Parts: sequence; C-alpha cells; structure tokens
Amino acid sequence: MLQVMAGFDDLPRIPDAGWLGSFGRTTKERLQMQRHIAAASAPMVRGRILHLPLALPATPEACHEVLVTKAKSFEKSPGLRVLLHDLGGQGLFTSEGELWRRQRRLMAPIFTPAALAQFAAAMQTTAQRSADAMHPGQSIDLAHETTRIAMTVVGSALFGVDTFDEADALGAAMTTALGWVNGAIASPALAPHILVLDTTRRLAARSRGRLRRVLQRIHDGFESPVLVPGSRSRALRAAVAVVDQRIQEMIDERRRDSVERTDLLGRLLATRDADEGVMMTDKQVRDEVVTLFVAGHETTATSLAWAMYLLARHPDVLEKVVAEADAFANAGPDRFEPEQLALTTRVFRETLRLYPPLTLFPRRSLEEVEIAGTMLPPRTLVFVSAYAQHRRVDAWPDPDRFDPDRFLPAEEAKRPKGSYLPFSAGPRFCIGMHFAMMEGPIVLATLLRSHRFEIDPAREIVEDDFATLRPRGGVPAVVRARASGSVRPDPTR
Ligand code: HEM
Repeated sequence: MLQVMAGFDDLPRIPDAGWLGSFGRTTKERLQMQRHIAAASAPMVRGRILHLPLALPATPEACHEVLVTKAKSFEKSPGLRVLLHDLGGQGLFTSEGELWRRQRRLMAPIFTPAALAQFAAAMQTTAQRSADAMHPGQSIDLAHETTRIAMTVVGSALFGVDTFDEADALGAAMTTALGWVNGAIASPALAPHILVLDTTRRLAARSRGRLRRVLQRIHDGFESPVLVPGSRSRALRAAVAVVDQRIQEMIDERRRDSVERTDLLGRLLATRDADEGVMMTDKQVRDEVVTLFVAGHETTATSLAWAMYLLARHPDVLEKVVAEADAFANAGPDRFEPEQLALTTRVFRETLRLYPPLTLFPRRSLEEVEIAGTMLPPRTLVFVSAYAQHRRVDAWPDPDRFDPDRFLPAEEAKRPKGSYLPFSAGPRFCIGMHFAMMEGPIVLATLLRSHRFEIDPAREIVEDDFATLRPRGGVPAVVRARASGSVRPDPTR
C-alpha cells in the first residue's frame, strides 16, 4: 500500500503562548506549551518561535527517533550554542562534530559506574559537612544548601579542589551568567543572529582565498552573543571573569603540581592532540571545566531541593526513606551499593520525572529527515520536551501525583523507550547520569538521617524555568532535631 508522507504544515498546531509564539517568555507560558504537547494525540505537533517553525515530538517513539535512532540528522540548536558561548565556550555541552566526539571519548572513562564508586565517600562527607553546620531551630534555604553540596562534590571529585567556602561567590557568578542566558533566549535578535551565522558559514564554504578568510572571520565573530552596552552585559562579563579567574587558578596550581593525578582535570591537562602532539589549550581545558562545574552542580542541586520538598509533603514515604538512610549510615561510606538506597533512588527518580531540571532539549535538523511519518526540511527547529513526556497519561497515570513506586522494576518494564528522559537519550545523553544517580540518593540519605526539615505546609513552591527548573524562592525550611529516630513532627515541641 502506498504510504502518504505528511509535510510539516499538515501537523496539528498548538496554540501560541504569548507574542513570542508557542515557546513563550515566562515559565508559565513555557510549561503551558509543554503541557499542550503532553496532551496531544498526534505523534508530533507544530508551533513557532517568532516566525520560525518549530516541530514538537509528542509521543515517546517520536522523541526516541529524534534523540536516538535519527540523532545523526540533528545538531544541538545553534541558538543555545551562541548564548552559552561566553560561559561554556566549546565545552562538551555545546561542542559538535569531531571536537565533541574526541572530548566525550576522553571523559567517558571517568563517568562509568565502576570508576565513580570511589566518589561515594566524598559525596557522603560533603553532605555530612553541610548537615553538621546546621543546628536545630535554624532557618535555611534547602536549595542553597544543596547547591553548596553539589558544587563541592563536583569540585572535589573531578578537579581535586575544595570549593565549599567559595560556593556562594562562584554560585552567584554562575547564576548571573545563566540568568543572562535565560533573558536572551527569548530575544527577537537571536533569529537574525543565527541567520548571519548560517549564511556566512555557507558562503565561506563556497568561496576561496581572501574572501573565504574574511567570511570565516565574520562567522567566527558571530559564534559569541552580541552584547548590547548596558548593566546586564556588564554583569555577564563580571560574572564570567569571576568564574574564569578561579578556573585559571585551578589550572595553574595543577600545572605547577609535579604529582600526576588521574582525576578529570589531570586527564584533561595530560591530553595531547593525537596528530600534532600538542597539549590541549588552557582555553579548551577551561571550557570543559566550566561546563562540568555548571552542568554537574546546578541540575543535581535543583533536583535535590525538589526531592526534599516532595518528601516533606509525603511523610509516609519520608519515614521509610529515613529508615533506609539509618541502615545505610550504619554500613559505612566505603561500602556503597545502590540497592542500599533503593527507595531513596526511586524517590530521586520520581522527583526527576516531576521536575526534570532540563525540561527541553533543542535540536535543529541538518538535512531532510522523516520523524513520526512527517518529512522535516533541513534547518527545522525540533524541541524534545522531557517535561511533556513525563506528564503523558498513557505512560504515567495521574501524572501530577508523586509516587516513587512507578520506578519499581516491573512498572518500569511496561513503559516505552522515550517516556522517561531526565538525562536525555542517544549520543548526547548526560555524561554525568551515573554520577547524579549516585550523588542524589547519598546526599538525601545523609541530610535526612541527620535532621528533620520542617517546611511550612501552607507554602506552595512553584516552578521557575530559570536555566534549570528551579523552585521559585528556594525551599525555605527550619532545621529540627530528629525526635528519637522519628521524622514526624515532635509532639512535645
Ligand atoms: C540530576 C542531575 C542531572 C540532570 C537531570 C542532567 C541532565 C542532562 C541532560 C538532559 C543533558 C542533555 C541535554 C540535551 O540532550 O540537549 C545533559 C548533558 C550533560 N550533562 Fe547532565 N544532568 C545532570 C547531572 C550532571 C552531572 C553530575 C554532570 C557532570 C558531573 C553532568 C554533565 C553533563 C554534560 C557534560 C553534558 C553534555 C554531554 C554531551 O553533550 O556529550 N550532568 N545533562
């Protein structure tokens, strides 16, 4: 039978969220767009950003095609690459092609479950350091605490530095830089910027001699964002300078150090180009280190804060998690086995379902490609939404309900590939996935066995789509002593 291929214009259209199109400017508009995708019955829907057409895969199968089986036909969206240029440069998150392949190969051995086992103790010690600094009656912001913990864990595990006391300054600088990216994502200037980038690249490829060099220079100039004079641009530059200075100090210290180390920084600094035998430049090392610092702490910290919030709202689950945490602490940190924290791990996974730190993965097609029966022309923007997949009723009945048992092995086996995407999938899936899945449960267990955290039951915490899906206003809590092993409110207080 002759199968008729649909075109982009035949796709059902989701309503615009605001003047910018379906993508929207605010968290509410962006999440609303993703809830529309979750409710769609067609395998793919279409939207727009300004005048640019946008394809939005709606079923797990369509997402799997984009991310995994047809990944070769897509690149990461150039808009994101430009916006992250000043912070992450050509680091693993934003690089493409041969550079990305080489760097991913280089770093992959550090991130296998076997290689990561050595970091369990550091994860537990760092969380314990934070818990030990808290005292009953103290008001804290759990999002702030988890940021400090996650940043320190990445710093010590991957780069052999202790950033516990600098976490506030470094965290503030990274937040300022990410805040700039967040504001610029919805800028009408981004589309013409990408057009210039694409056009100069195409023209340079077709030219020769001096003209080619001129076009290449113009193209390279547009790899970074155009900063209009003003306080926001000044703040971005100052924030990037703070991060750069600290990273350069780390690199300089390590280059002076005669002891050869096998952590990630040691590996990056020892790497020589296979053909030319030259060391990786300080700039490339800097880009990788900043990328891992940002990608490795912001996401984990955000999900830990949400997990603490969800547990406070579900005391029955919390009680069982605390019992598991007590047993885990008694076993000793160097004997970590994931099964010891099986329930805590399910809680963390369910938190990542409800609040995936990265909600959308923007891609652009490199060539004509068929997705879910629709032919997409080259340079179509395609956004895969983890937030939407995690709220589809067919895969997740009553999707807004917190239920860690969704991740019991028998339940997991029922779901199609592509329905659970907190770490994305395919070649660009999160390199730190095993790191995060070890750190999350260990940190939760360590904090929860040390104290009880009281969160005002009347306070509803809402999502803020700020680089990651952060809890707006943080997660304010009061530290309480655990009453004779219980985590339920102490009736004598
Ligand atoms: C709960 C914690 C985390 C979540 C939810 C998360 C999520 C993600 C997602 C969704 C992507 C892919 C985005 C896309 O396909 O466009 C990604 C990529 C990446 N993540 Fe994570 N991440 C987490 C923790 C970490 C950690 C702990 C590290 C490092 C220590 C890390 C480093 C990276 C890097 C370097 C990439 C780029 C990989 C590449 O393109 O080859 N992440 N992460």
